[in-house]
Amino acid sequence: MLPTPAAEPLPDGPRRLIIDCDPGIDDAVALLLALASPQLEILGITTVAGNVSLETTSTNARCICELASHPEVQIFPGCPRPLVRPSVIAAQVHGENGLGGVRLAPPQMPLQPIHGVDFLRDTLRCAPAPVTLASLGPLTNLATALIQAPQIAERLELIVIMGGAVGAGNVTAAAEFNFYADPHAAQVVLHTAADYGVPVVVIPLDVTHGAIATPARRQALRDLNAPAGQNPIGQTVAAMLENYGLREQQARGFTGPPLHDPCVIAYLLQPDLFETEAIAASIEIQSPLTQGRLVVDRSGELGLLGRIHLATAIDADGFYRLLLEHLGRYGGEPPTP
Ligand code: RIB
Ligand code: CA
Repeated sequence: MLPTPAAEPLPDGPRRLIIDCDPGIDDAVALLLALASPQLEILGITTVAGNVSLETTSTNARCICELASHPEVQIFPGCPRPLVRPSVIAAQVHGENGLGGVRLAPPQMPLQPIHGVDFLRDTLRCAPAPVTLASLGPLTNLATALIQAPQIAERLELIVIMGGAVGAGNVTAAAEFNFYADPHAAQVVLHTAADYGVPVVVIPLDVTHGAIATPARRQALRDLNAPAGQNPIGQTVAAMLENYGLREQQARGFTGPPLHDPCVIAYLLQPDLFETEAIAASIEIQSPLTQGRLVVDRSGELGLLGRIHLATAIDADGFYRLLLEHLGRYGGEPPTP
């Protein structure tokens, strides 16, 4: 029986969190959501090549932390390419600069001189208390750290991953981008987590496609703390979303872009926005046609080595209430009681 993921805030204070990401527009929104919450103590952000190059994801992570007035957050650049397969990026979805063409002030805060994998491995190895990992991009960094030192999994209390699709993928018919970009890493993480009994929540496209930034929701972002305009963040996020994944929207008949990665942070802040089911799972790594496919088995009898809590539904209105309330805090809006 899978352990129930500990998704409520810890009794002794904020949840200790490492965010691994490839900003990317939705990663950027996820970071803004996380940085606005006192429920989360961000131990560090690790970046990985994914939506755009490692250099660009690392620059964007710094820009977002400075936009959120959190230049103290430490950012550790990780792996510049997947474990095995050649690099793929998604600049056609996120724009060449990874933020939908929105130009933020060049970052003043430094990148950390420690590699993201070393930060993950050494922080977990020495962690005085268990750590949660939010994975928003290809899983190359975490997989590499787990290959180097699998026992660090004992210090992980929960891994929440945006990835996979039980229905259609978004890169191939079978695979979602994060698992497609580095299928070997995704398999290493799911299998090693199962070996060490680490609760893993996977939020697939089937659920994040329920979190569409409709025109009304994008207007609500623009209206945050308007007209005083003290909150450029609402307008900045709306501007990034305007050019996010337009081709996929048209192909799927969406009225706006799905906010994939913020679902991971929303799960940590308010898990009851989601429904999940315990399920056996693994990642297909062989076939050119289906590599990166999240393969699931509800019976648990078919030899799949991963054990996950697969998200199956989202309260989209509740998700956007949470997102708007948190982004509103940047403009001085007091948190709603
Ligand atoms: O398939 C969506 C995922 O791939 C998101 O994390 C997006 O940022 C990209 O990394
Ligand atoms: Ca991402």
